[in-house]
Amino acid sequence: MSHFNETANEWDTPDKIESSKLFARKIKEHIKTFDKPVDILDFGCGTGLIAYEFIDQAKKLVGIDTSEGMLEVFKQKGEGLGKVETHLINLEESDLEDQKFDLIVTSTAFHHLDDPQKMVHKLYGMLNDGGQLAVVDLDKEDGSFHPDNKRMGVKHFGFSEEEVMAWGEKGGFSSTKRYLIHSFEKNEREYPLFLAVFEKH
Ligand SMILES: C[S@@+](CC[C@H](N)C(=O)[O-])C[C@H]1O[C@@H](n2cnc3c(N)ncnc32)[C@H](O)[C@@H]1O
Repeated sequence: MSHFNETANEWDTPDKIESSKLFARKIKEHIKTFDKPVDILDFGCGTGLIAYEFIDQAKKLVGIDTSEGMLEVFKQKGEGLGKVETHLINLEESDLEDQKFDLIVTSTAFHHLDDPQKMVHKLYGMLNDGGQLAVVDLDKEDGSFHPDNKRMGVKHFGFSEEEVMAWGEKGGFSSTKRYLIHSFEKNEREYPLFLAVFEKH
């Protein structure tokens, strides 16, 4: 999506940094904690605003994105750390071979997907046993959050609780929990965001 290449260098605004820190804090509050560093994937990672909040917990930190510009910024942040890896792939069309993770995080990427249910199932297959998937995205909205949705590659106007719970059940997860964790304010309206935590036993 060229929109993300064009905006990559200006992506990390103070607002986005602050909300990403909050998302990461909420994810940490709601997942089972790890007693040693683990393999972590950020899907639709952008510049790594969420991923790098997990750098201390990571044995390996992997970012997947379709935007080269975003991944360039992600890579720069990881220079010299020796545990950061990026993959320029569309995960709906290609696979990341031979890698499994203990934690997969993804923030505001799901509303860009053709088939979120299929992606949940794919991410299930990319988790080790006992692994967890944490998805942050918009709660169901009326389309007014992204008025320019076609240019921005928006394919879903958020997701309802029913949809998210079904992702977990059909995706093979043993447990799905969904929390409202924040809201974005835009044009004097509030747009709630959810965090869904899926566990693979
Ligand atoms: C709204 S941005 C969010 C970026 C980052 N997660 C954040 O919170 O700042 C959505 C990101 O998902 C990526 N993306 C969308 N569809 C994708 C796909 N099928 N495979 C990989 N990345 C994708 C986009 O390129 C973009 O960087």
